[in-house]
Amino acid sequence: MSTLIVYATKYGFTKTCAEILAKNLDEKADICDLSDGHPDLLGYDKVIIGGSIYAGKIRKPAMRFCSDNLDILKKKKVGLFICGIADGDDARKQLESSFPNELLAVAVAKESFGGECNYDKMNFMERFILKKITGSSESQSRIAEDNITRLAEQMKNT
Ligand SMILES: Cc1cc2nc3c(=O)[nH]c(=O)nc-3n(C[C@H](O)[C@H](O)[C@H](O)COP(=O)(O)O)c2cc1C
Repeated sequence: MSTLIVYATKYGFTKTCAEILAKNLDEKADICDLSDGHPDLLGYDKVIIGGSIYAGKIRKPAMRFCSDNLDILKKKKVGLFICGIADGDDARKQLESSFPNELLAVAVAKESFGGECNYDKMNFMERFILKKITGSSESQSRIAEDNITRLAEQMKNT
């Protein structure tokens, strides 16, 4: 069984999570940044798709990848994840609105991997918005390692 992890990121947190996820899988996985283009899915049995959330929406390359490849993806074992600062019910809602319903229905694993706010990397407007969302101007980073492990286990077991 061969596995592909594709992700869409702006500042690199989702890439970091994709790399940690790859280490948790029991076989070597290929990792692809969707801003470099769409990989050929032909050789893969399992596909894991992830992206970060901005203003409630998953980054466009992840959205586009899902809609462009929906029919092929529905025939594979699919795992889905998001990265964002929301957790609990808010994160779950964001996840459910980030992917097409048809994909959510067949996915064997769906997780939120946490998020990072690095104010040093952001422009003025982003800093302003994030400060409003979080109520803090402190940079923060939270990787939900347990959720990464769980997604990896679910991909292994199915
Ligand atoms: C302008 C802006 C808006 C954001 N909106 C959300 C949001 O709606 N929900 C959320 O959970 N996180 C939100 N975030 C936090 C990002 O999802 C988080 O920083 C994530 O880790 C970024 O990952 P990336 O570096 O892979 O792009 C926002 C961040 C910025 C800068």
